[in-house]
Amino acid sequence: MAKAAIQFACTDCGYAAGRWFGKCPRCGEFGTLVEEAREAAGAVAPKATLRLVDVKAEEAERIPTGVPELDRVLGGGLVPASLVLVGGEPGVGKSTLLLTALSAISATRPSLLITGEESAAQVKLRAERLGGAANVQILAETELDAVCATLERDKPAVCVIDSVQTLYSADLGSAPGSVGQVREAAARLLRVSKESGVATILVGHVTKDGAVAGPRVLEHLVDCVLQFEGDRYHEHRVLRASKNRFGSTNELAVFEMTGSGLVGVPEPSELFGRMVEGEIGAAVGCVLEGSRPLLLEIQSLVAPTDLAMPRRVGTGVDPKRLAMIVAVLSRHARIALGQADVFVNVAGGVRIDEPGADLAIALAIASAAKGAPVMAGTAAFGEIGLTGRLRPATQSERRLEECAKLGLTAAVAPAGTPARGKLRVLEAETLRQAAKAGIDAERAEGG
Ligand SMILES: Nc1ncnc2c1ncn2[C@@H]1O[C@H](COP(=O)(O)OP(=O)(O)OP(=O)(O)O)[C@@H](O)[C@H]1O
Ligand SMILES: [Mg+2]
Repeated sequence: MAKAAIQFACTDCGYAAGRWFGKCPRCGEFGTLVEEAREAAGAVAPKATLRLVDVKAEEAERIPTGVPELDRVLGGGLVPASLVLVGGEPGVGKSTLLLTALSAISATRPSLLITGEESAAQVKLRAERLGGAANVQILAETELDAVCATLERDKPAVCVIDSVQTLYSADLGSAPGSVGQVREAAARLLRVSKESGVATILVGHVTKDGAVAGPRVLEHLVDCVLQFEGDRYHEHRVLRASKNRFGSTNELAVFEMTGSGLVGVPEPSELFGRMVEGEIGAAVGCVLEGSRPLLLEIQSLVAPTDLAMPRRVGTGVDPKRLAMIVAVLSRHARIALGQADVFVNVAGGVRIDEPGADLAIALAIASAAKGAPVMAGTAAFGEIGLTGRLRPATQSERRLEECAKLGLTAAVAPAGTPARGKLRVLEAETLRQAAKAGIDAERAEGG
């Protein structure tokens, strides 16, 4: 027979143990373990299995969301009966984006919005501001059982739940938003969405480090995790997939927040890749984001310091990657940075993780350190190795095409990159050669 047991789970990482700890043994956070009830599994009869070749499966048609940028990040539209998690900071525009998508979907398919955070009237006001949404069904409910029962009865094609942290099940006894509740809600919704064929989109809050709040378990359960980023002080928002069972990850979409909702930016390179001609400390990088190349302006400042440990501060750049680039620049390109603070910033609040951006970051720092601008109309891409040698970047043709499209005339790239069209390729084997080719020493400050 099933017997109830007590366990303690970490609200940050989902670690579970039979006793309480002041500090979570897995993630090291203090005071995050909370008590929750657990049902132990009873004995069940074994089930018959099936040969994989005998399984009948037809590729279901994807549901277009009416927001082309969102479709691309999802890998070509919503997959029926899938579970998607959308995470983002408060006020970044999660509800706005999903209501826009839901209004477009509701024109052709039954769609339901379950709101636990805002009242139906609040949603109505937003819908009026965005225009449309006449066919969207709405339910203001936080009881998990009621939500699941409604989904099973109505079987809408698409359902948005805003947010998963507000759902609670009376059986569990813990507060809404606690690990047990969030995990239970996601597991139940997963089952309902697969059984009833409902494509379900969960809105999730993020912690201060940017991870989806509640247990990491949530990210394993769902088919697709989308992160909505961008700070509230800029009108641009970046949506990216960090997990996708039906398409490529690292796919990126840029939106602009306007009074009438979020508007997709189809050509983000136009927006982020423009730099002021002859500016010292700025370089344009061509980075690959999912399936497409993107031009990004990277700015750097190198300032003398008396600190024993000079600062290396990067916004939109991985700090370890930045420290590595600075070290390779000092050691192999003979650019002295030991007595200087180095700051790097990527345009538009975009975060880059692709190693192909290394060279552009290095050129921006080298330009700032030497007080000379990067060659006019020149972009850069390529990965930097610890020996100072450049490694070829993937999909160089597509990157060069993007540079040519935006009217650039040359690109600094690792040796062996084939030229394409009218664009000149300044080939470099090492970082030192790249810095020489890419920086216009004749236009140095005071020189
Ligand atoms: N009238 C308006 N004109 C322009 N922008 C607006 C207007 N009303 C709201 N916004 C923008 O919409 C944003 C809020 O969007 P939304 O409510 O979709 O965010 P959210 O991610 O769902 O937030 P939460 O986590 O609080 O639910 C605000 O940051 C604001 O910039
Ligand atoms: Mg919201």
